[in-house]
Formats: sequence, C-alpha cells, structure tokens
Amino acid sequence: MRIVLLGPPGAGKGTQAKILADRLQVPHISTGDLLRENVKNNTDLGKEARDYMERGLLVPDELVAKMLTKRFAQSDTKNGFILDGYPRNLNQAETLDTILQEKNMAIDFVVYLDTAEDIIIQRLSGRLVCSVCAANYHIKNMPPKVKGVCDNCHGPLSQRTDDREETVRKRLQIYKKEVSSLIDYYERQHRLRRIDGGQEADIVLNKIIGFAKMLNDSLKV
Ligand code: AP5
Repeated sequence: MRIVLLGPPGAGKGTQAKILADRLQVPHISTGDLLRENVKNNTDLGKEARDYMERGLLVPDELVAKMLTKRFAQSDTKNGFILDGYPRNLNQAETLDTILQEKNMAIDFVVYLDTAEDIIIQRLSGRLVCSVCAANYHIKNMPPKVKGVCDNCHGPLSQRTDDREETVRKRLQIYKKEVSSLIDYYERQHRLRRIDGGQEADIVLNKIIGFAKMLNDSLKV
C-alpha cells in the first residue's frame, strides 16, 4: 500500500501514519520528522531548514525533494509507505509522481483529513512530542501513561517550537493557500478519499483501513 496523508497542521496525519505503518508493516515517511531530525543533527539541510520551520513557512521545494528522493532510494519503501506531510503544493505533487514513476510506483490513494480550525488549535496547543522517537501525545486527548515521559521509549516529552499560537496561524494560512490545488489534482486522478479528521482517532483509522481494503480485500491489517 502506498498511501499519502493530506490535511492541515494538527489534523492527525502523524498520529494515523504511525499506527497505519505499524499495521501495514510499511515505513512511515514524514517530511516534518525528517526535517526535524536534520535540524537536531545540525546537518547542512537542517541549517537551511531551521529558520523556515521556526517561522511556520514551507522549506523550499528543491531541498525537500532532494531529501525525499534520498529516502525513497532506501529499500524499505519497495513494498509500500505511508507518506505524511508531502506534498504541500502542486509542484510537490508533480515531483512526487516523478520520483515514484522513476521507480515504477504510484500512489494507491490520498487521504484528506478535513479538520476544523478550532479543533486544530485545541490539538496543537496540547500536543507533546517525544524528543527521542517522535511519538505524539496530547495533554488531554492522548496523555502518556507517566506525565512528561514517552510510553514507547521513556524519552522526555516536550512542545514543538512551531506549535506556538502565532506560528500555528502562519502554518494554517500557508496550508489554506495551497490545499485546494492539491485536492483538485488528486480528485482529477480519482485518488482522493475525504475523512472528517475531527472524529476520534479510532474512527479515522478504521475509515482509512476501509479504503485500503476496498483496493485490496486480501490485506491483512
Ligand atoms: P509537519 O511536521 O509535517 O507539520 P504539519 O503538517 O503542520 O502537521 P503536524 O505535525 O502539526 O500535525 P499532524 O497532522 O501530524 O497532527 P498530529 O498527528 O501530530 O511539518 C512541520 C514543518 O516542516 C512545516 O511547517 C514546514 O516548515 C516543514 N515541512 C514539512 N514538510 C514539508 C514539505 N513537504 N515542504 C516544505 N516544508 C515542509 O496530531 C496533533 C495533536 O492532536 C497530537 O497531540 C495528537 O495526539 C492529537 N490528535 C491526533 N488525532 C486526534 C484525534 N482524532 N482526536 C483527538 N486528538 C488527536
């Protein structure tokens, strides 16, 4: 299965992608996580990306495309992937098609997690992320078993620097500017599947699995 998750910041892309990747036994590829890893390790890419990310802006397309091409060159993507955070604009959608075509691959479907703004703000203001394994939590909706500690790896949990309210508003503004062209692009290809991202995480997950099973009814999930 090759699935793309689209949606505004806080729609639950990362939350769903991690569970789906585990259930389908394919890698979760998050451009946000890959960029944050580069920033943390102070790589050349990380040094270039940091400022854009802290201001809530998109990192330039060519930098992200290079990073993604490198990731797709790894053998674990052969049997599928869950892609989260890419594409963010039409140029990236076309780049993704080119990267995949060169590998004789194509996306199976694109999930659009349509989510209202008040829900987004509530989720992002309470989000906690593990600084070791990048697992996601929420102070109220999905709290860790022990306060401030990751359930999976016991790493420390903290708030993302781009989850400050003014940065969230900037991220949302950019998202709104770009999303309709992406929706049109995938609708024309008959690949878009809409889900209300404001529902409980289990409901959203079951709907995505339902779409996957429609394409492949022998799927073991
Ligand atoms: P990125 O990390 O991709 O951020 P984003 O797209 O803004 O999305 P988020 O990670 O904020 O939200 P999410 O939808 O994954 O929600 P989550 O599951 O965490 O990108 C960060 C930055 O990197 C960008 O701003 C940009 O600078 C750069 N970048 C990345 N990709 C790029 C690209 N392609 N091109 C250029 N630049 C790029 O959930 C949020 C919270 O809600 C969590 O606390 C979670 O526990 C909770 N939650 C989730 N689902 C539910 C639910 N159903 N019910 C209740 N709570 C829920």
